[in-house]
Amino acid sequence: MSLIQINKVAKTYKMGDVEVNALKDMSVEINEGEFIVILGPSGSGKSTLLNIIGGMDKPDSGEIYYKGKVLNKVGEKELTNYRRHNVGFVFQFYNLISNLTARENIELATEISPNPLGINEVIMNVGLSERMEHFPSQMSGGEQQRVAIARAVAKNPDLLLCDEPTGALDSETGKEVLRVLKTVHERYKKTVIIITHNATIGQIANRVIRLKNGEVIDDFYNDNILSVEEVEW
Ligand SMILES: Nc1ncnc2c1ncn2[C@@H]1O[C@H](COP(=O)(O)OP(=O)(O)OP(=O)(O)O)[C@@H](O)[C@H]1O
Ligand SMILES: [Mg+2]
Repeated sequence: MSLIQINKVAKTYKMGDVEVNALKDMSVEINEGEFIVILGPSGSGKSTLLNIIGGMDKPDSGEIYYKGKVLNKVGEKELTNYRRHNVGFVFQFYNLISNLTARENIELATEISPNPLGINEVIMNVGLSERMEHFPSQMSGGEQQRVAIARAVAKNPDLLLCDEPTGALDSETGKEVLRVLKTVHERYKKTVIIITHNATIGQIANRVIRLKNGEVIDDFYNDNILSVEEVEW
């Protein structure tokens, strides 16, 4: 079933006299339960697309639908509710609150959700049961990113949007994070979208979308989906 439909979405940024066409009449459909990797060079529009899907930005033209409901015409309040209830975000630099423990960071996020998941169970599934009373500064980058994933998942959104989740991590730690994202996808049946520069990561996805200059240049399903253990970079 279609979860997100992007229909001829355009987004242009103006920097002084210069106009950047970040997205050029892009159309993409995202189905429930997919695990998608978005690839593309720097500046190709990956984050712009993710931010529009996540309701953090609005297109200049075109439409975005969530479960058949048009999103680009709703008011701020409804868009805030969409972000709160339906979307979980994971960013490259974790964005945890530094004076809250791992558990408190996750709890805070669940407070804005009408149907959160059990915190202890989510913490267990990201492999952090032993570390949940630690502050971010007492954790490695990979552990902090797993807290960020737990925080995004615990509010129980349909959609998990990850912008370069392994971008600040070495390959082994990055793989741990990807394993956690795979677990979340399988156990909680979330739709997961990951942006990365690393084409190898595309092999663990069920679908790969390639962007270039604000356009989709490739969009395919993997016949042979590899496990995180099977990929090497
Ligand atoms: N808020 C903004 N103001 C001005 N220009 C912007 C803004 N956000 C993005 N852009 C421009 O739009 C284009 C697409 O940016 P976007 O961040 O989507 O690229 P990206 O594929 O995520 O790149 P990266 O891999 O470097 O993160 C770039 O040329 C960028 O400079
Ligand atoms: Mg980006």
